[in-house]
Amino acid sequence: MAKIIAFAGSKGGTGKSSLSHLLAHGAGSLGRPIRSVVLTTDADEKPLVGTRRRYAVIDARESPERLAAELERLIRLERLLVIVDGAARRAGLDALLARVADLLIVPFGPVPQDAQRAAEALAMMPKAVALPNRWPSHAGIAKRARKWLHIVPEDRCMAPFRTVPKIDGLLDADSYLDVTYDLAQPGRNLLFEILARAGVDPDDLAFRKELEPAAA
Ligand SMILES: Nc1ncnc2c1ncn2[C@@H]1O[C@H](COP(=O)(O)OP(=O)(O)OP(=O)(O)O)[C@@H](O)[C@H]1O
Ligand SMILES: [Mg+2]
Repeated sequence: MAKIIAFAGSKGGTGKSSLSHLLAHGAGSLGRPIRSVVLTTDADEKPLVGTRRRYAVIDARESPERLAAELERLIRLERLLVIVDGAARRAGLDALLARVADLLIVPFGPVPQDAQRAAEALAMMPKAVALPNRWPSHAGIAKRARKWLHIVPEDRCMAPFRTVPKIDGLLDADSYLDVTYDLAQPGRNLLFEILARAGVDPDDLAFRKELEPAAA
């Protein structure tokens, strides 16, 4: 069965889309790549379908029903990582994702209001974990931001993920090739953190030559 990782949460601009694509890019940038697909659900976003990437993108913006149908189809496939880029203002979506995802991730930025919203989202989604995103690495600023981490329950908070230069290039069809190399390592780091949290061994998802049909 495919593994499903979903980014969710009702707050906009927390990094759901950027992290979805970075995760998929990391999966496609491994020595033995993991096949992955990002499902776009945000009606306000360009779907990026059709650009050549190290992963596939499927436009599932039509409705939660369309998304559910896509997930039902994809989950049957072996050795596939399915990543859902959940939209902020889409009623019913979080409930659907909570039901089907192996791991549900609520990103939040380094401000107390974001942490508070993430804590509220976790209270409504028992299986979800929070991911502090765009976390400052400068010691002084990081010290101040550390107290906002305590707003969410410690056992449901992943290690902070840092600010990644050029990450916005992933969401732009024209600049993807310019950032492919620089974003491979941050993408792999994010992938390993998330798979570990989901209890998934990357080897169980990675491409295996012997499973491919023999070349004629
Ligand atoms: N780790 C990061 N490092 C640097 N910039 C980031 C990071 N994560 C997100 N950003 C930036 O934050 C902004 C918002 O990110 P993004 O669009 O991914 O959020 P979103 O949750 O998908 O928003 P929406 O709810 O509107 O769909 C973007 O400009 C993106 O480039
Ligand atoms: Mg988005």
